[in-house]
Amino acid sequence: MDYKQHIAELIGSELVSKNDIGEALEGHGDFALPCFKYARELKKSPALIAADFASNMAKSPFIDRAVVEGGYLNFYLNRAKRVEQILESASSEEDFKSAREANKGKTVCIDYSSINIAKPFHIGHLMSTAIGGSLYKIYEFLGWKGVGINYLGDWGTQFGKLLAAYEKWGDKTKKLTLNDLLELYVRFNDESERDEELKERGRTEFLRIERGEKQALETYEMFKKTTLEEVNKVYKRLGIEFDSYNGEAFYNDKMGPVIRELDDKGLTQISDGAKIVSLEEYGMPPCLIERSDGATLYATRDLAAAEYRAKTYKFSKSLYVVATQQNLHFRQVFKVLELMGKEWAKNMEHIAFGMVSYEGQPLSTRKGHIVFLADVIETAVQKARAIIEEKNPSLEGKDEIAEEVGVGAVMFFALSTARMKDLDFRYDRVLSFEGETAPYLQYTHARCRSVVAKANLKCEKVDYSLLTDDVSYACIDLIGRFYETVAQAAEKNEPSIIAKYLIDLAQAYNKFYIMNRVISSDKALSAARIQLTSLSADILKKGLSLLLIKAPDKM
Ligand code: ARG
Repeated sequence: MDYKQHIAELIGSELVSKNDIGEALEGHGDFALPCFKYARELKKSPALIAADFASNMAKSPFIDRAVVEGGYLNFYLNRAKRVEQILESASSEEDFKSAREANKGKTVCIDYSSINIAKPFHIGHLMSTAIGGSLYKIYEFLGWKGVGINYLGDWGTQFGKLLAAYEKWGDKTKKLTLNDLLELYVRFNDESERDEELKERGRTEFLRIERGEKQALETYEMFKKTTLEEVNKVYKRLGIEFDSYNGEAFYNDKMGPVIRELDDKGLTQISDGAKIVSLEEYGMPPCLIERSDGATLYATRDLAAAEYRAKTYKFSKSLYVVATQQNLHFRQVFKVLELMGKEWAKNMEHIAFGMVSYEGQPLSTRKGHIVFLADVIETAVQKARAIIEEKNPSLEGKDEIAEEVGVGAVMFFALSTARMKDLDFRYDRVLSFEGETAPYLQYTHARCRSVVAKANLKCEKVDYSLLTDDVSYACIDLIGRFYETVAQAAEKNEPSIIAKYLIDLAQAYNKFYIMNRVISSDKALSAARIQLTSLSADILKKGLSLLLIKAPDKM
């Protein structure tokens, strides 16, 4: 329920608009209204105005009291009423349903993960994969339709090099792995530095792919398949799916019309033989559209891809979850689309994020400090398994639970810090059962479930007035903020808002748990506390699922 609106309804009049009151109200749970600015209009002192407003509040079952303090009017909610309303709507999901209706028909395109073929899937890709995957869940939860796009880096001169290397050194008798491809590529780069002929061969081989020569194309497709097979294993473990894998190559035949349109609109010019759109006026270097040899560029493909997405999906929002390093690229692309008069360009957004290091070491593909995401996940799962073995060796379904804890820890690491901050991955911290970690949340959830199971109590009607003490109320108040928290996370494209909320909720619940005996001989009290426990578990589980984290019932 919207308390601000409720208060505004009761106070608003011809002289003081409801909207105005709604906006002026301060606070989240209990509210305050500063009355100074109405003094002139109403020709009364703020304190008198507050007293007048206060008298209107008597009618409300939701407001316990309204107290005048100086020129402020402080509202104290009727806790029992609020507890009832939150717990009933949370258990029936009524609130979510109507809010979801409001977003029906809206589509959000999310370009995320977007890996490069024949390149390592390293921990640097974790951020885009996790943030994008989580945003997808968040928007869908809010009633949007999500379109997850893995914009594969599957085009460019490196494929010519790889093809040349494969033809020269590749073992054609066995199925290649992603690692074999990497080795071939590295070897090519190494040897071609001293071997002009080889370098040239890389170029001509790319032409063969571009021209679509059957055999070259087949090998290229094999590179693609090999890479995808391996990364799909990681996606599967992370619970990530995509609606489209249309990558750079898909736009090979779709750039012509965009370039023509740019020309027709008089936006292009030739500079040093290359076709560019000047962005000097906007304080940016020019956006390169076509090189002097006719080759198109990363930006050209993104322009075509943006147009395609607008046409195909008719998005209300189009997000690009990509490292900050590409900030300029996206500003240029968005600006060019705006100059082309694309009305939808304003709905595009670059969702950037900070850098990841690993156990204190910066990552660098060039210096060979590559940490594979698959290895990080596997190690986290092994460590989780060892912890379970130590803490709870008789636990049933240990393997599955270790998987959920290990993967959850990796995901939470990526999603629990504001995305622009740099991050250092450390197993000990990420896998701790205490503090702000996924295992802590999962453990709290499992604790709630076990309390409910132990109570084995079915109760029709709960006496909500039994949950109005500060500690219980703090927990319920948080439960009542779940939906708005998710909505806020979507508005800022910031999953960490949900992560932080879940930590707050788990802490509030654990405080409640420590201070209260949930199950006692008092049946009504036990029933009320079980209700609180059960809903806390539901919200923890739902919230975790939006961060792509599973919540096992036992741990
Ligand atoms: N494959 C690119 C990279 O690894 C990221 C692509 C991001 N998406 C896009 N539409 N440009 O750097």
